[in-house]
Parts: sequence; structure tokens; C-alpha cells
Amino acid sequence: METAKRIRELPPYLFAEIDKKIADAKRRGVDVLSLAIGDPDMPTPEHIVRRLVETAQDPQNHRYPSYEGLEEFRGAIAGWYERRFGVKLDPDKEIVSLIGSKEGIAHIPLCFVDPGDINLIPDPGYPVYGIGTLFAGGRSYMMPLLESNGYLPDLSAIPVDVARAAKLMFINYPNNPTAAVAPEGFFEEVVEFAKKYDIIVCHDAAYTEITYDGYRAPSFLQTPGAMDVGIEFHSLSKTYNMTGWRIGWAAGNRTVIEALGRIKTNIDSGIFQAIQYAAIAALTGPQEPIEEACRIYARRRDMIIDGLNALGWNLKPTRGSIYIWAPVPRGYDSIGFASYLLEKTGVVITPGIGYGKHGEGYFRVSLTYPDSKIAEALNRIKEAGVTFAGK
Ligand SMILES: Cc1ncc(COP(=O)(O)O)c(C=O)c1O
Repeated sequence: METAKRIRELPPYLFAEIDKKIADAKRRGVDVLSLAIGDPDMPTPEHIVRRLVETAQDPQNHRYPSYEGLEEFRGAIAGWYERRFGVKLDPDKEIVSLIGSKEGIAHIPLCFVDPGDINLIPDPGYPVYGIGTLFAGGRSYMMPLLESNGYLPDLSAIPVDVARAAKLMFINYPNNPTAAVAPEGFFEEVVEFAKKYDIIVCHDAAYTEITYDGYRAPSFLQTPGAMDVGIEFHSLSKTYNMTGWRIGWAAGNRTVIEALGRIKTNIDSGIFQAIQYAAIAALTGPQEPIEEACRIYARRRDMIIDGLNALGWNLKPTRGSIYIWAPVPRGYDSIGFASYLLEKTGVVITPGIGYGKHGEGYFRVSLTYPDSKIAEALNRIKEAGVTFAGK
């Protein structure tokens, strides 16, 4: 049996590879302690779970849901956007529900990319931007995100012929994996570039609610002109500790939203309605659990940054996302350092190369682990004599 070319061309999925290494280490008796995955350890707030339980008992919700999402759910999203960002959206035409934002990110290239077309992809970046492009037969033009440029793409470095041929541009702030945030003026620059070259912007806003030290991340859609050129992907996953529930949305330009909805009606049949009712409770209910989660993440961020800086790193406090992005010690590449750390200490971190060529030389740590685990991991790293000065 021969798989299709698009499957054969797939790079190995990073976390599956890590899982294999972890399993091997466990088999050899290593006491494994993972800081690798960005999956909130805190539970979904109780009022949201309660709403799911209530609505799951209603037989009305046991049938096929509507393709585009319940009117009330899209209305709750529109209300949330207006309260949070001052952005007004038409729930019928400018919002579509998603089975987690990953689903929409993977499908959007099917709407606009013909075989051979180019998408602009951040490197390092969330792997699904490139994979969705590959599945649509498109080509990825990687935009390097360099520390020296605040992990922003340098739009002026994109060759004019590439920009002219490009269909979609993916951006993501607060950023996974670098934890960078978009400075004032950056989204304006993106809108101008997208208008000049007729490119559709897809802003992945998965982490806008997870921010620290008083910083509030903007929505791309609040940028003048953004609704003409793009959409924003959002999700309840990180905001409300709901990664397992699989619910999110895309909002913005109505032509793009209509096209994404059309692809989806041919692939899936919407989200279990009880989950949509629970999501409404999340968006319209008390927002204090987000503040509490951000306080906890900020504390862990400080623990990790202080811990690594005491071993010779020079990391600055991050302002958003649930990650710390740090250079590997001298003498290692990112896989080499991850393997060394696993062998020597049992601590699992994510090698930067898994997020693209320009992630080489870095590693990612996630803040979604209890303080006690983080403290133990830092202690093991220190005891093993690991320092930034390297081998
Ligand atoms: C940058 C980014 N975008 C999107 C997602 C997908 O989130 P979900 O499909 O749970 O909404 C993730 C998940 O880790 C992410 O890191």
C-alpha cells in the first residue's frame, strides 16, 4: 500500500518524536519530568463544566449541530470581541466556529491555495501553518523570526516576486514558541504589506489572553484596514484551560470566513452543541479565572527565568504566551541539548529545530506544569552541573 505524496512529504510530528524518546528513557529507568508540552495543567473553571453537564442532558443537543456554530455562540464571540478589543463583528458573516483553532488553521489553505501557490510562514512557528499549506499543494516561504528583530518577520526582506505570488501570511502574537509580543505599529505594517501585495493575513491569536505585568495583547482585527485583508484565529483552549474540549473560531473578513465555512461544511458537521453552550458560559461568565491563571504562569515564568539566569543564561521577563524560549548552551544543537538533558536529568524540553530551521540553537519550556515540578526540574539541572557556558 503506498501513501500519498503529501503524507510521505510530512516531517515527523515533533511531539510524537519526543514521546518516543521519553518512552525509551522510561524503559531504561530514567525518572522523566516533562516541561515540554503547552497544555494547561489547571482545570477548566467549574461554571463552564457545569454548563456542559446541564446542556449535555438535553436531547436537543444530541443531534447534528449547525455547521457554522450556534447563533448564540457566534453572538457571544461578537460580544466578547467588542468588550475586549472594541471590535464590532457581524456574527452571521464575520465569525465561524472551529473544532479548535488548529482545525481552521489546517483548513484555511484549502480555501485559497492552488497547487504551487506560496504562503508566508513564520520560522520558528507553530508547525500547522506549513502542514496545512503542504496539504493544499502549496509551498511555504519561511519568514525568519530572529531575536535581533524581536522575533518579528522582516517584511522588507521578502522578495517582491515572492510577495506578489503569496496567497496567505500567517503571524502569531503573543508567539509560540518565542513568547514575543507584537510591538505597536507592527500590525499596521502587516496590513499595508497585505494590501500592497493582495495577501490574506491569518493572525493566530491563541495566546492574547495569557499576558503578564499589565500587558494586554491587541487583536489584529482592531488595526485599521485589518478587516479588509484578514482573519484572526482564536480558541478557548489556553484562555479557559479547555484544550481537551476542541472549540475555537475564526473571525474577520467576510469573504475569507465564508470560504472557510464552505470548506468546513464539506468536511465536518460542527461542534457538539453542549460544548458550544459551555463556551458561551466561558465567554460571558466571570473572567477572574484568566487573571488567576496569568498570575500562576507569571510566577512560574519568574521561577524558570531566575533559575536559568542563575546558571548563566540572560533571559528577560516575557510578556505573553505560556512559553520560555532560551538559547541552548554553547557546544550543543537543540536536539543534542534536549537529548543530553533527558539522559542526564530526566527533564524534557522541546528542541527549537522542531519549530523550523531558525529555531535551531534554542529550546522551549512550557509554563503549564505545577510549581513543584518546575522547582524539581531546575534543581536537577543545577545538580547536574548544566550551565549556559556549556560543555
Ligand atoms: C500558536 C498556536 N496556535 C494554535 C494552537 C491550537 O490550539 P487549539 O486547536 O487547541 O485551539 C496552538 C496549540 O498549542 C498554538 O500553540
